[in-house]
Amino acid sequence: MPAQADSWDIATYDRYRAERQQPFYDLLALVEIAPGWRVADLGCGTGELTSRLHRGLAAEATLGLDSSAHMLATAANYAGGGLSFELGDIAEFSAEAEYDLLFSNAALHWLPDHMALLERLWRALKPGGQLAVQLPANQPHPTQVAAVEIAAREPYAAALAGHSVAPGALAVERYAEVLHALGAAKQHVRLQVYAHELPDETHAFTWIRGSLLTGYEAALGPELYPRFEAAYRARLFELIPPSAPYLLTYRRILIWARKWNGE
Ligand SMILES: C[S@@+](CC[C@H](N)C(=O)[O-])C[C@H]1O[C@@H](n2cnc3c(N)ncnc32)[C@H](O)[C@@H]1O
Repeated sequence: MPAQADSWDIATYDRYRAERQQPFYDLLALVEIAPGWRVADLGCGTGELTSRLHRGLAAEATLGLDSSAHMLATAANYAGGGLSFELGDIAEFSAEAEYDLLFSNAALHWLPDHMALLERLWRALKPGGQLAVQLPANQPHPTQVAAVEIAAREPYAAALAGHSVAPGALAVERYAEVLHALGAAKQHVRLQVYAHELPDETHAFTWIRGSLLTGYEAALGPELYPRFEAAYRARLFELIPPSAPYLLTYRRILIWARKWNGE
């Protein structure tokens, strides 16, 4: 599958920066830290959090990988001191026992077939290496339900056929099972609900415009996307009544596991 087309708008994505960053810190708190590691941050985005990861871990070398040239243009500002960035598709990332930590915050939900993906990432870890992944799993929320509903209508359904817009997450317990099957020495998998108080319900649209809708924009192109967005917006505000403030509930899955170190 080709990587998601590059429709990331950093200003819109960064609008809810503090809210989007909290899961990064929650994920980092799960990592059993030791200095001098070789690390990869998959779907590193603007590199701001990759830089905090690199320094917070006192890593020797951290690679930030992302398929968005827009995101990486900003990331370049953080490069140096063992931190580097590369344009590439996580779907093609593979290595054999090379990394002490594979970290991915809010990116793997763009990729399909998580069982095969986790197996591939697991192989890239050294003995004793750790995997830390956070991915949104907010499919039941009206912001996602509205997108699925509109995408099923024509002409969007035909235009989206063959595009994997946002495959999403497996059921949370599947990740625990996959890690167990891979032989994890230790694991922590949890579903966490983040509660974001936004000024009103229109901010739920702005939030999703900066993330989920970028995938639809890339797949539908400039002809169809504006109509899709208008239909989405109308449906969203049928599903969400006016509310000020508006509480956006956001389910996320946090996954951490450590490989046997061979002892
Ligand atoms: C929601 S952003 C998260 C960025 C960063 N990890 C953070 O926490 O701020 C998702 C990132 O994943 C990247 N991404 C999505 N699919 C990808 C793929 N198949 N290969 C590489 N990067 C991908 C996007 O380009 C985007 O920068």
